[in-house]
Amino acid sequence: MATLADADLTFASRPHPAPTSVEARAAVLANPGFGTRFTDHMVTIEWTEPRGWHDAVIGPRLPIALDPAAAVLHYAQEIFEGLKAYVQTDGSIALFRPEANAARFNQSARRLAMPELPEALFIEAVTRLVQTDRAWIPSGEGSSLYLRPFMIATEAFLGVRPAKQYKFIVIASPAGNYFKSGAPAVSIWVSDYTRAAPGGTGAAKCGGNYAASLVPQAEAIARGHDQVVFLDAAEHKWIEELGGMNLYFAFEDGTLLTPALTGTILPGITRDSLLTLAREEGLKVVEGRYSLEQWREDAASGKLVETFACGTAAVVTPVGKVAGRDGEFTIGGGGPGQLTQKLKNRLVAIQRGDTPDTHGWISKIG
Ligand code: PLP
Ligand code: COI
Repeated sequence: MATLADADLTFASRPHPAPTSVEARAAVLANPGFGTRFTDHMVTIEWTEPRGWHDAVIGPRLPIALDPAAAVLHYAQEIFEGLKAYVQTDGSIALFRPEANAARFNQSARRLAMPELPEALFIEAVTRLVQTDRAWIPSGEGSSLYLRPFMIATEAFLGVRPAKQYKFIVIASPAGNYFKSGAPAVSIWVSDYTRAAPGGTGAAKCGGNYAASLVPQAEAIARGHDQVVFLDAAEHKWIEELGGMNLYFAFEDGTLLTPALTGTILPGITRDSLLTLAREEGLKVVEGRYSLEQWREDAASGKLVETFACGTAAVVTPVGKVAGRDGEFTIGGGGPGQLTQKLKNRLVAIQRGDTPDTHGWISKIG
């Protein structure tokens, strides 16, 4: 749904009148955590039905005014993305596969009946924000600037139909480790709740999916686990994914399996990148089905040697323990496995520019 207005969209630049002091910023960057601190600027772009995308601005990060009848507040017409900017070892700044995020954003937009954003505009918006707030990118090991592009329906209208007015925004947040626990491997809880059903919105990155995952996630935490894992909706048997990460299973015979993209799973960009890297490592990589029962059995027999979660926020995180109503089991020795570490190192080396980018995944932007 690109419109003529997209072609000549120019960004207005309004620098923050009172940016964060160097000292306060340094304190944030020394210990960024995840998702609680934000940079000084944001990008906003408006969309209305006849005009298409217009009024692109990079300006101070400020609260936004919304009419109380704005459609997003009632019917959750909202989508988002998550990607990271890295300070590479040579000091340059790079994004990892931003065009994949731009493409997935538009897949989500189509599912939520929202206007698509030209991919070049998505990338330009993200790039401008990173360049403006480049001093906010932490450079420590495992640190990066997490970027959160999102779109909301802003039209004041209570009828149930796609809105005719939207706002696209990009904010940025210095990020360290996603998991606070700092444990070498995470523990996950098998939920009785369902995340996504066939025909639903599971493959879209929309806020509603995450709202529905909060009770199961809170249950996992209350039981002493780090994350929730969801099974399929129809049979409650097949492993799908975690609340915010995809899963991989490594077997002693050199097979690496990840649940296939059936339409109920988010097509993770980290997942996709690891498919390629694992094949290059000589592993037999399979996108298929894996049941909870088999998982338990294979962990006990030693056939399954490792399980790891992957995603932009979590990078590659080993799973050491799985628990559910039918008891719990440990994977391998319960700690990080060698293959998990190897694949993580390969991915991070590309993101950091420590190894040649033979896949065209790195976009240098400064
Ligand atoms: N699955 C869910 C539900 C997620 O929220 C995420 C995070 O974005 C992922 C998987 C991993 O996707 P990606 O690797 O693109 O970050
Ligand atoms: C991401 O990894 O970008 C996500 O959206 C996951 C979320 C749980 C932070």
